[in-house]
Amino acid sequence: MEIKKVGVVGCGLMGHGITQVSAQAGYDVVVAETSQDKLDAGIGKIEKQLARAVDKGKIEQPAADEIRRRISPTLDLSDFADCDLVIEAISEDLDLKLEVWEKLDGIVKGDAYFATNTSSLPVINQAAVTTRPAQFLGLHFFNPVQVMPLMEVIQSVTTSPEAMAAGLAFGEKLKKQTVATKDKAGFIVNRLLVPYLLDGIRGLEEGIGSIDEIDAAMKAGAGHPMGPLTLADFVGLDTLMSISNVMFDEFRERRFAAPPTLRKMVAAGFYGKKSGRGFYDYSGENPVPVNPGL
Ligand SMILES: NC(=O)c1ccc[n+]([C@@H]2O[C@H](COP(=O)([O-])OP(=O)(O)OC[C@H]3O[C@@H](n4cnc5c(N)ncnc54)[C@H](O)[C@@H]3O)[C@@H](O)[C@H]2O)c1
Repeated sequence: MEIKKVGVVGCGLMGHGITQVSAQAGYDVVVAETSQDKLDAGIGKIEKQLARAVDKGKIEQPAADEIRRRISPTLDLSDFADCDLVIEAISEDLDLKLEVWEKLDGIVKGDAYFATNTSSLPVINQAAVTTRPAQFLGLHFFNPVQVMPLMEVIQSVTTSPEAMAAGLAFGEKLKKQTVATKDKAGFIVNRLLVPYLLDGIRGLEEGIGSIDEIDAAMKAGAGHPMGPLTLADFVGLDTLMSISNVMFDEFRERRFAAPPTLRKMVAAGFYGKKSGRGFYDYSGENPVPVNPGL
């Protein structure tokens, strides 16, 4: 089945980006939120990005207007009835996601594909509450969606080869680099990245270097654009901890376990860049390393 109309549930950090790149690729997109304020905030971000692209000469004003016209914001999931593909990008809470899928399953036409953008929850748990588990897959985008080239396409135990092919073709139309992967916690990127970030924190606990030494070493010695402690602050320490908890739960291996320093920083509300403090203090012009007091 050809995908023409895309539904996006949630217009937060990820949802607004998925909405924008889908509209840019020529799809009609309906996007839903829980309140008018949140919907306006998400759409406002898209409009700002489009205006910036026009200012920089990347696209012409009429093209930006056309992209915006393809996006229909709504508070009513019944507007998703004729979508060919629905992507869920709501908060990382399984109960909330199951509730939304049960509703959508009763609304959206029977041959449509359903996809979750979850970072860590099993795809199969969500597929199993719908009447179309063979048409259910994971489409995992990366933040910021407009910039990051990768999209992981995730096959659960029930996902059909046709649904995988549709997911991969959709990613290509969005000009994403796609990789097919399986429904194992962390998929490919977080499976490799999360233990590395946790090891950066464990290294700090064990005194292999200071915050700036560990970060500088990985930049200059491994060619990484930023060090692990800076990257942990960017991901969000709360997010990193919750992904590591899910991975530890699935694999029961120490490399996926959140180190004590991470747990304590999250308990203190030091979530990284978004809260103004993590391994660095972001209140000044430049980030300043703050020893978490091990
Ligand atoms: N932030 C990341 O870097 C990242 C990367 C890849 C995947 N993800 C995944 O994407 C999903 C969304 O994450 P986010 O960072 O965009 O979160 P976010 O909090 O920025 O956005 C979630 C939005 O969903 C809305 N929402 C909640 N319940 C809803 C409902 N029933 N109907 C409509 N909207 C609803 C919320 O109001 C909120 O605006 C999560 O599953 C997360 O794991 C996040």
